[in-house]
Amino acid sequence: MRIAVTRETEAQEPRVAATPETVKKFKALGADIVIARGAGVAAGIPDADFEAAGATIGEDVTKDADIVLKVRRPAPSELAAYKKGALVIAIMDPYGNEAALKQMADAGLIAFAMELMPRITRAQSMDVLSSQANLAGYRAVIDAAEQYGRALPMMMTAAGTVPAAKVFVMGVGVAGLQAIATARRLGAVVTATDVRPATKEQVESLGAKFLAVEDEEFKNAQTAGGYAKPMSAEYQAKQAALTAEHIKKQDIVITTALIPGRPAPRLITSEMVHSMRPGSVIIDLAVERGGNVEGAKPGEIAVVGPAKIVGYLNVPGRLAASASALYAKNLYTFVETMIDKKEKTIAINWDDEIIKGTALTRDGAIIHPNFMPKTAA
Ligand code: NAI
Repeated sequence: MRIAVTRETEAQEPRVAATPETVKKFKALGADIVIARGAGVAAGIPDADFEAAGATIGEDVTKDADIVLKVRRPAPSELAAYKKGALVIAIMDPYGNEAALKQMADAGLIAFAMELMPRITRAQSMDVLSSQANLAGYRAVIDAAEQYGRALPMMMTAAGTVPAAKVFVMGVGVAGLQAIATARRLGAVVTATDVRPATKEQVESLGAKFLAVEDEEFKNAQTAGGYAKPMSAEYQAKQAALTAEHIKKQDIVITTALIPGRPAPRLITSEMVHSMRPGSVIIDLAVERGGNVEGAKPGEIAVVGPAKIVGYLNVPGRLAASASALYAKNLYTFVETMIDKKEKTIAINWDDEIIKGTALTRDGAIIHPNFMPKTAA
């Protein structure tokens, strides 16, 4: 059983899909593990550390690999170098990319999308959305603090008092909760909003104030899976009015609102941005999914009226070492379930809900119901 870890093809991707810790664990399962030369460098892991953990360093690592671990979906140009029937496990970004999924199917790969992992207790340790969003929420506050020309905590000094910064977090999932906790640790005065009622108590338990339109629709805004539903136009108008008044008085706004499989909801209009005080900072963590903030530019810091709107891409990648450590561990726990430990071979239980939930392609076809060609589905 041979496991390969490639270099990432996208220049913007510093994370790596294995660490010396997971290499040791895979070795203990009886696997040979080969890592592409330099694959960990941007995440602070030199080849020598992988070798010391028992990996081989190589060039064409995918050629004989039974399992290929990656951060992102393989580029079409890579696919010819994969063994037919190999498992490829990555953050596949499948929505709207059915053509790329078809190419993986055509290459004979068995592809798994880590971000489709069902949110069940058993799979918590495999949940890449959580492991990466948590770091993104932390980093959003650090990035905001860097862009903000004032201090976050209140400081009483002989030369005068610096007031505490007011931070508003919109969307209180995994990223939002970590942003609240981080901003609180830095001494900011924090408020937060979400459309799911369950978040109110979570916000308050972190010492922040909850603010939302709490009507009948709000009471039913959570799906059985724990995610938000798209809200009605009427709700959105009420939410916008409340937000507009509040934002005027904020120094830093961090937006994290997402709805699975859909574009991010637009929460902040250009008018709201213009109503803010000079020097304000907005961090839009949803920018890769269309953005929560009007005027946010992917990969850029846009100066709009009095505010800077930060639209950094791949925010977990801004903490590449931590993000890789957690991601690699997510991958290991998932792959471990596919290995027969006695025989030291791959043995996939196709009836397991974590397999059914994440498997995209098999036997030359797209098999995930969300991405199957319409006629087949
Ligand atoms: P997400 O990344 O899909 O969305 C972020 C937040 O945006 C959510 O809290 C959502 O309610 C909010 N949002 C959507 N539309 C909004 C709007 N119009 N205005 C304001 N906020 C809006 O969510 P994430 O971080 O994936 O978490 C979703 C839920 O899943 C949470 O309850 C989390 O605790 C839960 N979860 C459960 C796990 C498990 O049981 N294994 C693992 C991780 C998370």
